[in-house]
Amino acid sequence: MDDRSNTFAGWVLGSGIVALGFSILSGMYFNPSEAEHEGEEKHYGYAVAVAESGGGESGPSLAELLAAGDAEAGKAVFAKCTACHTVEQGGKDGTGPNLFGIMGKPIGKHAAGFAYSSALSGHGGDWSWENMDAWLTSPRKFADGTKMSFAGLSKPEDRVNLMLYLETMGGAPAKPVAEEKPAEGDEAAEGEASEEGAVAEAEADQDAAAETEEATAAE
Ligand code: HEC
Repeated sequence: MDDRSNTFAGWVLGSGIVALGFSILSGMYFNPSEAEHEGEEKHYGYAVAVAESGGGESGPSLAELLAAGDAEAGKAVFAKCTACHTVEQGGKDGTGPNLFGIMGKPIGKHAAGFAYSSALSGHGGDWSWENMDAWLTSPRKFADGTKMSFAGLSKPEDRVNLMLYLETMGGAPAKPVAEEKPAEGDEAAEGEASEEGAVAEAEADQDAAAETEEATAAE
């Protein structure tokens, strides 16, 4: 009797491990291929994953990231751009246009004499923080047909730090401002917020809980 129930529990555990193995494998296969061919899809894949485990909110806002950003770190990120871009005042155009003072300028028109693609020069709008963030996420998605052959920066922090660095090189328009929100760890706000958090967490843990229940029931 005991032996049989142990065997049964073993099977349940075993199938759980197999299922886990599958999800790890599918993650391994899913990510690299998506990353190569559709950078954006991968990005959204992560965003969804974060939303599920974090309880509905999809990461910090651009304003929040900017408030925590670091121009000095952005200077290091700009190393990925220097093959094609100069950023100092009066710097030459290379494969790409000089970027001094680019923040806030009209899109695809900043460097007189640079031969922009019509995809970029015809885009319209200015290099606001939001537009620059979208461009740096995926140039191809922002301006389909652009001749900037750069895949994009997948980390929001890298994009934000880079933009803060660009701001030090010729200025930038006003930054987006974070909405008033109770600070995390604020005792007074905790009561209401924690209820939502608890529900979200419970939902996120559903799978794990179901597995545990199954295993417990089998014992
Ligand atoms: C392989 C070369 C290359 C790399 C690497 C590259 N760029 Fe570009 N960039 C270009 C080209 C070419 C254009 C013009 C695109 C067009 O006209 O469609 C451009 C355009 C731009 C523009 C628009 C400028 C304007 O005047 O409107 C910005 C901003 C920009 N790049 C930023 C960056 C940043 C930041 C990086 C690094 C993360 C980077 N680029 C990496 C080649 C490159």
